[in-house]
Amino acid sequence: MSEPPAASTPAAVPAVDPAVDPTVPAIDVVGLRKSFGAEEVLAGVDLAVGAGEVVCVIGASGSGKSTLLRCVNRLEEPTAGRIVIEGVDITDPDCDVDDVRRRIGMVFQQFNLFPHLSVLRNVTIAQEKVLGRSRAEAVDVAVRTLDRVGLAEKAGDFPARLSGGQQQRVAIARALAMDPDMMLFDEATSALDPELVGEVLAVMRTLAEEGMTMMVVTHEMGFARRVADRVVFLDGGVVCEQGPPDQVLGSPEQDRTRQFLRQVLERE
Ligand SMILES: Nc1ncnc2c1ncn2[C@@H]1O[C@H](COP(=O)(O)OP(=O)(O)OP(=O)(O)O)[C@@H](O)[C@H]1O
Ligand SMILES: [Mg+2]
Repeated sequence: MSEPPAASTPAAVPAVDPAVDPTVPAIDVVGLRKSFGAEEVLAGVDLAVGAGEVVCVIGASGSGKSTLLRCVNRLEEPTAGRIVIEGVDITDPDCDVDDVRRRIGMVFQQFNLFPHLSVLRNVTIAQEKVLGRSRAEAVDVAVRTLDRVGLAEKAGDFPARLSGGQQQRVAIARALAMDPDMMLFDEATSALDPELVGEVLAVMRTLAEEGMTMMVVTHEMGFARRVADRVVFLDGGVVCEQGPPDQVLGSPEQDRTRQFLRQVLERE
C-alpha cells in the first residue's frame, strides 16, 4: 500500500480528554473527611486543581497534608466526601481504582527504589508489569525519562551508588515513565541533605513549566512562591486559606496562616 498523500487524511477527532479540557478539574476534592479512630484529620476539605495547575499545600506537621494526598490516589480510604479525577469519581465503589491510579504519579519523601535493581530497571519494571510495555519500549522510555531528570549516565548504576538527590530524581523518572496526567509530591525534598534539595526542586520546577498538573506538599516556601500557581494552607482539617503565592505567603488574611508562616520563618 502506498503512503497516503500528505495532509489528505485529517486525524480522527479524539474523544474529549478531560486532562486537556480546561473546564474539568484534574483533581476535584469535595467535602473530604478522613478520621483515624476518634481523630478527625480532614474535616471537609474542598479543593480543585485545574489541568496544568501547580498547587502547593502547606500546613503544620500533623495537619493532614499527607493524608489528603494519599486520599487523592486512594492509598487512604476517605471517611466521607468525593474525589473526582478528570471527571471520574474514584470514591464510587464501581470505579476501577487501578485505572485511575495509573494516571497519577506519586513521589514520596522516601524514594523506595529497589536496591537490588539497576536505575534503568527501577524505571522499566512498572512500565512492563503495569502498562504491559515490551522490554524494548520500556527501556526506550526509561532512557528518555532519565535524560529528562539529568541522569542518563546513571542508568547502569545501583541506587546505593547514587546520592539522595539523584535517587529522588530516579523516583521522579520512575513516576514520569508511566505517562501520568498529574503528579503528587509529598515532601519530596525533606529527607535530603540541604545541598541536594536544589537539584530535585529544579526538576520539579521544569516539570511545572512544561505544564504538568502538580499537587505538591512542601515546606520549601521559596519553591512555593516561585513555582506554585496557588498555595493552599491546611489547618484544623480544612482549607484555611488559599490564593496566589504572593498573597498567601506575603500578606495572608487569616491569623492562623500568619502564625504558621512566623513559625516557619523562625525555623529557617
Ligand atoms: N494510618 C494512620 N493511622 C492512624 N493515624 C494516622 C494515620 N495516618 C495519619 N494519621 C494521623 O493523622 C494526622 C495527620 O497526619 P498526616 O501524616 O496526614 O499529617 P501531615 O500534615 O502530613 O504531617 P507532616 O508534616 O508531619 O508530614 C496525624 O495526627 C497522624 O498521626
Ligand atoms: Mg506528611
